[in-house]
Amino acid sequence: MRSRTMRRTAIRLRLAGALAAVLVAGGVAGGPAAQAAERHGKEPTLADLAERHGRYFGSATDNPELVDEPYKALLGSEFRQITPGNGMKWYATEPQQGVFDFSQGDEIVNLARANRQKVRGHTLVWHSQLPGWLTGREWTAPELRAVLKKHVQAEVRHYRGKVFAWDVVNEAFNEDGTYRESVFYKTLGPGYIADALRWAHQADPRVRLYLNDYNIEGIGPKSDAYYRLAKELRAAGVPLHGIGLQAHLALQYGYPTTLEDNLRRFSRLGLDTALTEVDVRMQLPATEEKLAQQAEWYRDLTEACLAVRRCVGITVWDYTDKYSWIPAFFPGEGAALPWDEQLRPKPAYFALRGALGGK
Ligand code: G3I
Repeated sequence: MRSRTMRRTAIRLRLAGALAAVLVAGGVAGGPAAQAAERHGKEPTLADLAERHGRYFGSATDNPELVDEPYKALLGSEFRQITPGNGMKWYATEPQQGVFDFSQGDEIVNLARANRQKVRGHTLVWHSQLPGWLTGREWTAPELRAVLKKHVQAEVRHYRGKVFAWDVVNEAFNEDGTYRESVFYKTLGPGYIADALRWAHQADPRVRLYLNDYNIEGIGPKSDAYYRLAKELRAAGVPLHGIGLQAHLALQYGYPTTLEDNLRRFSRLGLDTALTEVDVRMQLPATEEKLAQQAEWYRDLTEACLAVRRCVGITVWDYTDKYSWIPAFFPGEGAALPWDEQLRPKPAYFALRGALGGK
């Protein structure tokens, strides 16, 4: 085992090398820097490294960012999987009842196709980012059931063969493991989850179907709720194939040390798992120490996934601090991703490489 100091020194050295590479990629060509860039350019990407372990390594992205060419270039080269951060959500895809608009999701699917990346569909049923027509009135159970079925099936059908997995239901539980009182739960009861999975399966029998949530990385009341539900659903023959652990981590709350055990218990139910929205935020300003700790967390979560055969891949919730959701939602926090706002790799990036067996 290497000591922390050795790891940190190695990370700093690599950071210096990659900085040179980035400067050159940005047009500041020159002798030694250019050579360094060339060497760096030939190194396997995170996705290449993950693939050697039979895993994908991906990033979320969002439509407004796709005008940023340097951003787009890295998105296309470093990752082999992308997730639309917003474009496939209900408010975007069915802005009026029965009127579907798949343009944002399609843009991302087309980009992925051009870059030979696979796409995780996110997300069909969620309490948040719903269209006004749905939240603005009361529904009877039969009405809402029909609305839900139509939405799920129209979207899954549209993306049949284009996405390999769906977050069918997102964030269904509260922290204490009770069901979240979403409009779907309140109107339809907990059976809406099994129904949504069955409807999605009918619309695309090949796509992998997931339940996805945050704060379920470690073993606790919320992940226990998923464990129990997954067991019940499997026993009842409901088409559930995986559990997505979002992994929005924060340095101030501690690392979920039971992550690997947790992944393993879902595997034992015959389910895939994936780390679907990874970021590791911190209270700003980011210091060298915090960035080093963040790097260790990225390394540890990657090692946990690699240790469990059915943990199929890792997706960061966008790859650069430039487009992270964190500062807008948690004022005073940020610096959560492996690349900084200038698209320069941070210690976390090198820790990821190391964990994946790269140099
Ligand atoms: O589309 C409007 C735009 O018209 C307006 O000008 C702008 C002004 O603020 O807002 C835009 O909407 C924003 C939307 O993202 C699209 O960019 C919303 O304000 C903003 O709240 C929304 O945030 C998204 C968030 O989900 C909503 O809960 C984030 O981008 C997205 O990354 C985040 O993703 C979620 C996952 O889906 C589920 N897990 C948690 C994760 C982080 O919250």
